[in-house]
Amino acid sequence: MSLPPGFLDELRNRVTISSVVGRKVVWDMRKSNQAKGDFWAPCPFHQEKTASFHVDDRKGFYYCFGCHAKGDALTFLRESENMSFMEAVETLAREAGLPMPERDPRAAEKADRLSELAQVTEAALRFFRMQLNTGAASGARDYLEGRALAQSALDRFEIGYAPDARRALWDALTGAGIAGDKIIEAGLCAKPDDGGAPYDRMRGRIIFPIRDARGRCIGFGGRALSPNARAKYLNSPETPLFDKGRALYNLGPARSACGKGQPLIVAEGYMDVIALSEAGFESAVAPLGTAITEDQLRLIWRVSPEPVIALDGDTAGLRAGYRLIDLALPLLGPDQSLRFCLLPEKMDPDDILRQGGASAMARLIDGAVPLVQLLWQRETDGQVFDSPERRAALDKRLRTALAKIADPGLRGHYTDEIKRLRFEFFRPAQRAWTPRGSRFVPPAKPLSATRSTRLASAPDDAIADAMREELILATLLRHPALVTEFESDLERLSCHDPTLSQLCAMLLAGETPSPDHIEALMALPHVAIAPPVRTDDPDFARLCLRDELSKYFARDGLDAELRDAVEDLGDLADEGVTYRLARASAARNESERSRLSDSTDLGEDRAALSGELQRLIESEIWVKRKK
Ligand code: UTP
Ligand code: MN
Repeated sequence: MSLPPGFLDELRNRVTISSVVGRKVVWDMRKSNQAKGDFWAPCPFHQEKTASFHVDDRKGFYYCFGCHAKGDALTFLRESENMSFMEAVETLAREAGLPMPERDPRAAEKADRLSELAQVTEAALRFFRMQLNTGAASGARDYLEGRALAQSALDRFEIGYAPDARRALWDALTGAGIAGDKIIEAGLCAKPDDGGAPYDRMRGRIIFPIRDARGRCIGFGGRALSPNARAKYLNSPETPLFDKGRALYNLGPARSACGKGQPLIVAEGYMDVIALSEAGFESAVAPLGTAITEDQLRLIWRVSPEPVIALDGDTAGLRAGYRLIDLALPLLGPDQSLRFCLLPEKMDPDDILRQGGASAMARLIDGAVPLVQLLWQRETDGQVFDSPERRAALDKRLRTALAKIADPGLRGHYTDEIKRLRFEFFRPAQRAWTPRGSRFVPPAKPLSATRSTRLASAPDDAIADAMREELILATLLRHPALVTEFESDLERLSCHDPTLSQLCAMLLAGETPSPDHIEALMALPHVAIAPPVRTDDPDFARLCLRDELSKYFARDGLDAELRDAVEDLGDLADEGVTYRLARASAARNESERSRLSDSTDLGEDRAALSGELQRLIESEIWVKRKK
């Protein structure tokens, strides 16, 4: 509905914002100056003890100096009560005694027709509820009891029963004077094609009434009691009231609960929503037997910026999640995203709650993964990327998906994250060099903060570094006499592999590592190139070691500079930082050049060794990480 010009201004003039806000906060009367229309209170939008929330009656605005929430009386109702814009307008207009503008006649007629239908569905709802208490419903009551539904839950969700009779509802409603065509239009009964008498759609089913956000009963879901029924769940057909793609089960109560800070959970079925609510997760909704639509997504986002989609733990559940990704990508924005909670195999939220209680569900919700991660899983799960073609195909699919994100800023961050996941994925298989016989292989070390920053260099560097660390340590094992000489360098070595750090510490402490330790490290293919003992040239190993260490630290220095730079300036570049970065990369290039040209003594041999290491590194880059 469109409002006439000036209506909102009139509304704002008539209401005193402090009277609207005053219902939600306790004023700090010492700080406030009532006469001036100047009020202070602890902010209702964030946790605080002091009063940094300011309301100015003359301006009609509020502003929080703590969390920066701000707006007028309408904004306040929308934010604090989770109301839609129109609901806030209607509420304020009612309070201010300002009549809402006349609706246009066609819209008014449609609204009347809908409310007439809603009266029919309400009558049906009362009928179904009453039926649940009859003798014919004993099977239904047993079933509900078996599913551990307390009377309070039955009342709260208005659960009813449709008797297993052809015309029970029809007779009851027509008997109450309701016109047959309205009953049919409301989707409650159907006329057979052969022109016979109308019959009830729901028969022998537990009934779940579906209300829209405004609380109108728009349709019903019915669960068969008989395991032989053709469909386990039957929903009302589409009617002028019931648009399945735009409705969500339990939206109204979920919206109020969400306003209190709970995340919105999107489950698959009626029983999941009910079980979740009963367990304290009151902000739960479900689509109505169909896949989630774009309209439903928008509806969900109006309630909660990052709802959690609970996917049933089966292939169908996962596939539904995968499809939802494509629907969501173009619509994503900084305040509009999804998380996915992957439930254990063959389980839905209802099962989880029954078996593990609310704490089990809470853990799963806390562990919900961001959309980007499910996207990655979709594109890689169960696949092998052992050829350039396959890897190129993966990249192409990822690019296509990323291109769907309309928000440019967000697209950039998705691209970064995908790059990071890609690196993690293609890191070499754990080159475990833990002593043989020890059964524990430490998990691959997570990326250090440095290497996951956006400025940090290509993933290959981390692998190269790790291999270089191993080579350095292997060289020292072969030439223990060099430890003291390179002591200060070794102290700065920060190994990717904790076992390697341990070994390094032992060498520095003058302890002898166990033969198992040594053997495990020396068994790695690339450390075979650690310089041998050469009687013709006692300095050979020393020079090789110096070379590797200088390359290692040149890179490390660059990383440290980059990390500091990123921390220093956030998004802005400044001259000092640019200078430091330039210097760090010059040092690195210098050491790379020395690797390539190596004209000093023993240069060729050393260059050959370095080259060999490089080759080994490159061959490892693409080894898929095994899970
Ligand atoms: P499920 O088959 O997962 O049902 O369908 P459920 O919620 O676990 O039900 P219980 O626990 O066996 O009672 C999930 C949702 O899919 C729709 C319904 O909306 C249901 O809640 N559905 C399912 C149908 O519309 N028709 C069907 O035949 C089955
Ligand atoms: Mn279930």
